[in-house]
Amino acid sequence: MPDGVTEPIVEVHLTPPELRAALRRDVAAGLSSSPKELPPKYFYDARGCDLFDDITRLAEYYPTRCERSILTERAAEIARLSAADTLVELGSGTSEKTRLLLDALAAEGRLRRIVAFDVSEPTLRSAADTLAHAYPQAEVRAVVGDFEHHLGAIPRGGRRLVAFLGGTIGNLAPKQRALFLSEVASLMAPGDGLLLGTDLVKDVARLEAAYDDAAGVTAEFNRNVLHVVNRELGADFVPERFTHVARFDPDEEWIEMWLRSSKAQEVTVADLGMTVGYGRGEAMRTEISAKFRRSGVEAELGDADLALARWWTDRDGDFAVSLSFKE
Ligand code: SAH
Ligand code: AVI
Repeated sequence: MPDGVTEPIVEVHLTPPELRAALRRDVAAGLSSSPKELPPKYFYDARGCDLFDDITRLAEYYPTRCERSILTERAAEIARLSAADTLVELGSGTSEKTRLLLDALAAEGRLRRIVAFDVSEPTLRSAADTLAHAYPQAEVRAVVGDFEHHLGAIPRGGRRLVAFLGGTIGNLAPKQRALFLSEVASLMAPGDGLLLGTDLVKDVARLEAAYDDAAGVTAEFNRNVLHVVNRELGADFVPERFTHVARFDPDEEWIEMWLRSSKAQEVTVADLGMTVGYGRGEAMRTEISAKFRRSGVEAELGDADLALARWWTDRDGDFAVSLSFKE
């Protein structure tokens, strides 16, 4: 590290063997259920993170651009309203858009601590190094963990702004979401803020295109979970035998991603001693991505005792960033 730059502190609450054990449990349960299902958190090995990064640059995938435009316009206001000296980011990935917030907090002379929290250790370590160089005035702490299990690892103290960006909250099912929000709220002190990115309900064709791009990057991201299960659990999925499907469910108001078996086939998961049959056309759900309305977000925050203070959207009303405070 150059002079004046302090190494990030890395805390691992989910070691690779623990992550593999969680994958074993989830795959055993998910491949035994009907319909079959795999949780989306396993997309994000190093390749999956790179593919997600590629997705964020696709013409069809508007959320990242929209959220960045909101943050560009509002970062100074967010820094002022939150009066935070600590930024905690959940599901931080590369923390690329977060730099807009960090720059605004730094401009106010407040920034003391950055906590980046993600399940993907390689991406998190590299993001933390970049942040440590860019913000030498701040302590940078990287927490490797699952935000559904390890939120207790978030350090206390200071005035904190918890950022959960990208619309990742939409990847949680409604019950998981309620639990997650109440846990986030319970670790917040009065005056701490939650900055939440939520994708909004819109025209179905645009939504489905965002999750089924012409270049097939999202399809490859979707199939990446099969590569992960092959590598980690000795499975023999042939990813090319599964077709990517993305469709909007108008009743649930969420996108569902599925992998559809293009033929009848058997797959063995060696580490589980498990052989599973797929019928021709059988689909396995790999992700939901909920789309929101202001009233729903406000109600869900309220249920977690978080009071909505600001709601900002991009010019076209495609994406929202909200700021709420612990009541
Ligand atoms: N916040 C970034 C990245 C979004 S991609 C953005 O807005 O662009 C989703 C990120 O959440 C990935 O980095 C993934 O590794 C992380 N993630 C997904 N499920 C997680 C979980 N259960 N616990 C912690 N991190 C998770
Ligand atoms: C991380 N998350 C908000 C993305 C989304 O839009 O639900 C993941 C993704 N899935 C397909 N494309 C992007």
